[in-house]
Amino acid sequence: MIPFVNLTAQRNFLRKELEEAEARVLNSGNYIGGSEVQNFEKELSLYTGMANSITCASGTDAIELALNALGLRPGDEVIIPDFSFISPAECVYRLGAIPRFADILPDTFLLDPADLMPLITPKTKGIIAVHLFGQTAAMEILHSIAKSHDLWLLGDAAQSFGAKRNNKHCESLADITITSFYPTKPLGAYGDGGALFTNDDFLAEKIRKLANHGSKSRYFHELNGKNSRLDALQAAVLRVKLEQFDEELKKRQKNAEIYNQFFSQFPDLTIPYIDPENTSTYAQYTLRAKDRNKWLSICDSAEIPTGIYYPRPLSKQPCFMNIERQMKNSGASRACHEVFSLPVCAYTNVEEIIQKIKSVL
Ligand SMILES: Cc1ncc(COP(=O)(O)O)c(C=O)c1O
Repeated sequence: MIPFVNLTAQRNFLRKELEEAEARVLNSGNYIGGSEVQNFEKELSLYTGMANSITCASGTDAIELALNALGLRPGDEVIIPDFSFISPAECVYRLGAIPRFADILPDTFLLDPADLMPLITPKTKGIIAVHLFGQTAAMEILHSIAKSHDLWLLGDAAQSFGAKRNNKHCESLADITITSFYPTKPLGAYGDGGALFTNDDFLAEKIRKLANHGSKSRYFHELNGKNSRLDALQAAVLRVKLEQFDEELKKRQKNAEIYNQFFSQFPDLTIPYIDPENTSTYAQYTLRAKDRNKWLSICDSAEIPTGIYYPRPLSKQPCFMNIERQMKNSGASRACHEVFSLPVCAYTNVEEIIQKIKSVL
């Protein structure tokens, strides 16, 4: 069976550099912090152009750290797209604040700025823009809405590290942007990991403290923080992968183009729409199907793995049932019934996938 993300092929391709990096850390006796993590953070800043890159234990931790640093309090409200992985909503809710779910744009699946406006109340403190599937949300409009209502803007680039909008790195388009280094993400480690990016030195210092038990100097705890660190081993692996990350992105984009040419001949399918202002990292290659079950069973017969990101809007998740709802969010519900994703990573042979699908058709 073709893997959904071919991490073994990536490891085979980078084996020499990865093994050298892994041995360097394992033989050093330093497994937490130190030069690997510091150098990786510097390289992240060089790559993104951001003044501060702070690594941590996961993308979810990165969101929680960002919300803490931005001063989110119990009872505050935060606007989040209804069609997303759960982390942003989960973090808001766990801190005692209330996620308010806005609908998505039907073509890009990204937060709909017009739908968000009626959700703003005196309790609203911020907006989390999820850069879903690899492309950036409409940050200019979101930024001006945030500015005019005195809200902060947090970017979730867990799926979009390296994506650009109008030639700017998506990491630079919010007060804080987070990413995830979960193994199957476009830039993935061999375990959990995450990072936060900000040009605000005050926020950066606060985040660093929060991720280190609220402390800058040892055993003096100014804030109620936590332990959230990226291991030196993961940093060393990620440094190797970052070096050729842009090459991988090009291959993902090429794969998506090949898929687009093939799938655009089927009137019951909609190929991914990338806003002309964006480049996409294609964290997912996501099609919309009028009859999804038909396409899932074709892929199944062709032995092609598929994923459904996401089968249920966040507002309809049992864990958020207590939250008072104002909207129907029909765009998010429709997407949940229609989307399915295909393997698209740099090491996926999409021609082979197309041949297999053709043979079933
Ligand atoms: C949009 C989004 N945000 C946050 C996360 C959380 O990242 P992590 O799994 O590293 O905690 C993910 C992970 O899938 C994600 O897709």
